[in-house]
Amino acid sequence: MTSRVVTVGVGTSPGVPASEVLAAIDAVLPAAAGPVRLATLDARATEPGLREAAARRGWPLTGHPAAVLAGVAVPTPSARVAAAVGTASVAEAAALLAGGALVVPKTAHGRVTVAVAVSDVDLRHHGDQEATPGLVDLAVNVRTGAPPEWLRTVLHAAVDASAAYPDPRPARAAVAAAHGRDEAEVLLTAGAAETFTLLARALRPRRAVVVHPSFTEPEAALRAAGHPVQRLLLDGPGYRLDPTAVPSDADLVVLGNPTNPTSVLHPGEAVAALARPGRVLVVDEAFADTVAGEPESLAGRTDLPGLLVVRSLTKTWGLAGLRVGYALGPADLVAALAAQQPHWPVSTPALAALVACTTPAARVEADEVARRLDVHRTALLAALPEQVQVVAEPRSSFVLLRVPGGALVRERLRERGWAVRRGDTFPGLTGDHLRVAVRDPGTSRAFATALAETLEALQTPEEIR
Ligand SMILES: Cc1ncc(COP(=O)(O)O)c(C=O)c1O
Repeated sequence: MTSRVVTVGVGTSPGVPASEVLAAIDAVLPAAAGPVRLATLDARATEPGLREAAARRGWPLTGHPAAVLAGVAVPTPSARVAAAVGTASVAEAAALLAGGALVVPKTAHGRVTVAVAVSDVDLRHHGDQEATPGLVDLAVNVRTGAPPEWLRTVLHAAVDASAAYPDPRPARAAVAAAHGRDEAEVLLTAGAAETFTLLARALRPRRAVVVHPSFTEPEAALRAAGHPVQRLLLDGPGYRLDPTAVPSDADLVVLGNPTNPTSVLHPGEAVAALARPGRVLVVDEAFADTVAGEPESLAGRTDLPGLLVVRSLTKTWGLAGLRVGYALGPADLVAALAAQQPHWPVSTPALAALVACTTPAARVEADEVARRLDVHRTALLAALPEQVQVVAEPRSSFVLLRVPGGALVRERLRERGWAVRRGDTFPGLTGDHLRVAVRDPGTSRAFATALAETLEALQTPEEIR
């Protein structure tokens, strides 16, 4: 089953109590709604009644600036609202910003106006939400048992040195040297994910195209900033990139290589073919170092116009919680993105990790980890039960599976102590798709046995479908 996220856009006058806000929302909320979020104008997000309404139901509440709401095309704009708050729509625009389709247009209930948009996938769902304590975590693709001891020593020393504000210069120089780039072409970030938000803030794309299925944060960030996004869905089961399928007038193109969640590694030349003057081409290489030798990486290419390569230390070094990554691109684009960052965006320990993980010795170690991963992936694939289809040709630290009755299988696996990543929150995938992290062969074999037993227990077709 595809997950649905309901976003209720709310416009309210000051001083309206929570009961009145909830009465208005309940009047329009679709039956059997999935997860619900509230969205409004930023100036109203601090209204006590609205805050209390959200808190009572446990719904997240987001406030958007008037300028962002004003950029959303809505069916029922109002000149009166525009004159009052600087955007012709609050409820409809705030509901639509989450990326869904409007199912309830602007409806007034007393002093509260509501509109409802439903999105087919929750772009903000990530594997860590599935890896609840007590389960074996195959839902998050971060190396376990890391960071290695020598890196922990570096990090501890950096924590001790954290009384001073961070100095990014050594890290920038180290990253530039590792990739043969100018320092002005290096943007240090709090994780790869930060770059997507910076792009959404710095650029005003007329036609942004995101290649799916892929990591959903780039699209979520673009939508949150009010940019329209066009999805280019690659066809399964191969999920190969056809550069000619990307609209030629797209001025922003985003794709991952290797791709999460398909684990497909596109040929570097096919990705490079997407670069052209007047376009920003964002290649999310957060998993590039999971492939030994990084054969298809474009990180060192300075000849391609508008190419921005996004990298992360999260996966190979087991540093998800540190928030550390970087981007490589033309100096003017890097400067435009940096201008959107707060001062001191990357902490002293994260900067120390950048220096330590880009030394030649660390890069050799990363390569060894990637080679071992190849062997471990082969062991996982060999152990899987026959009924399970391995989708595409996996090349990274996870594999995408197609399992009949996937949603139920995932639930049953959780009951047996295993967390795998649901596929249906990735545009283009279904409830039958499950993403599984590659772990050591012992863990993979134990998982394969649990999966086989789960499938056997679910033999009755009525229960599966
Ligand atoms: C493809 C991809 N890119 C980027 C990220 C985010 O990486 P970071 O932890 O560096 O922000 C993830 C995290 O899941 C990812 O899967």
